[in-house]
Amino acid sequence: MRIGVPQETAPGERRVALVPESCKKLKQAGYEISVEAGAGSAAGYPDAAYRELGITFETDPAVLLGAADLVLKVGPPSVEPGRDEVAWMRPGAVYLGSLMPLRHLRAVRALAERGVTAFATDAIPRTTRAQGMDTLSSMANIAGYKGVLLAAVELNKYFPMFMTAAGMVPPARVFVIGAGVAGLQAIATAKRLGANVTATDVRPEVKEQIESVGGKYVGIELKESAAAGGGYAKELSEEDRARQREILAAQVAQSDVVLTTALIGGVFAPRLVTAEMVRAMRPGAVIVDLAADGGGNCELSQPGKTVTVGGVSILAPLNLPASMPFHASLLFSRNLTAFVQAFTKDGAFRLEPGDDIQQGALITQSGEVRHARTREALAKEGT
Ligand code: NAI
Repeated sequence: MRIGVPQETAPGERRVALVPESCKKLKQAGYEISVEAGAGSAAGYPDAAYRELGITFETDPAVLLGAADLVLKVGPPSVEPGRDEVAWMRPGAVYLGSLMPLRHLRAVRALAERGVTAFATDAIPRTTRAQGMDTLSSMANIAGYKGVLLAAVELNKYFPMFMTAAGMVPPARVFVIGAGVAGLQAIATAKRLGANVTATDVRPEVKEQIESVGGKYVGIELKESAAAGGGYAKELSEEDRARQREILAAQVAQSDVVLTTALIGGVFAPRLVTAEMVRAMRPGAVIVDLAADGGGNCELSQPGKTVTVGGVSILAPLNLPASMPFHASLLFSRNLTAFVQAFTKDGAFRLEPGDDIQQGALITQSGEVRHARTREALAKEGT
């Protein structure tokens, strides 16, 4: 069975789906692997590193994809004119990658029409067995870490407390909204840099996790539970939103840095930091909106840009994992490899319709969209 690894072509994308370490493992499992020439270069994995392992190179992506039984990608397949990767794939071939189907409905429709079996690693169930395949977690970890570094560079203050000959400098006050994978890494990283860190979430069970990485928890007494299962949060009722706004307003006003990471269902970003809250911050303060890919948690964020309002810098970086492509690719590649290995028998990838991981991750198959939330979104789009 042949695995094809095309070059990622989305703007700013520097990751590669399979790094040499994983190619070695998958070759041992019985696969043949073809990589598009130069696919790993931007991530720090030159062609020579693959060549040493006897990997085949292909300069024509249409030939690469046309010959692949299993296509491994970081992002969704390109459906752009001139590079229509779905049209190049064979009906019945398998796509595996972070498809983010709700954000890429056009690609989903094309995959279904082409008869490709598409698995999205961002849709796998959050179970212990699936942990090693969870690209959302490994990429969120990078975003949380890098987000804090960006804040530290932008801030006009020190993060740590310093005792200097010229007197004491107090530590920066960092407030993290949303303490999932990205938020917890942000808390830990800001803490390592010496900041005074406070964090909040709508799932009260994260209190202990926040404290375990050195943060102080600020809770919100909710009338209704915000847990939607699988670690995901659902949208708050209007009454709970009003309560939360009060707490956020007080915390945001006294913070030097606000990092936001909140997502609903792992996809869409609720608007939590209002323009009024930003106006109450001191000039020189920094907001890093890590939910920019989902639309942003701050009302004033402009995804992909940095804006300054009343002296407050608002950073809304997109695709932060791509800014650390070496380790992002390594971890992503390990996640994909764990998925492929789990379903490999006698050197071939098997479809196992009864398996909970395959069931959760399956987006399209045999001309149909099999993922309920994606089907609903497509129906809505068509109305
Ligand atoms: P996420 O990216 O969907 O959301 C980020 C955080 O924002 C979540 O903690 C969520 O509760 C919070 N949030 C949502 N709305 C909010 C609001 N209005 N105000 C404040 N916070 C809000 O979630 P993520 O980071 O992917 O994972 C969340 C949890 O899921 C993890 O902490 C973990 O417990 C669990 N998980 C389990 C896995 C497994 O067992 N395989 C893998 C990954 C996560």
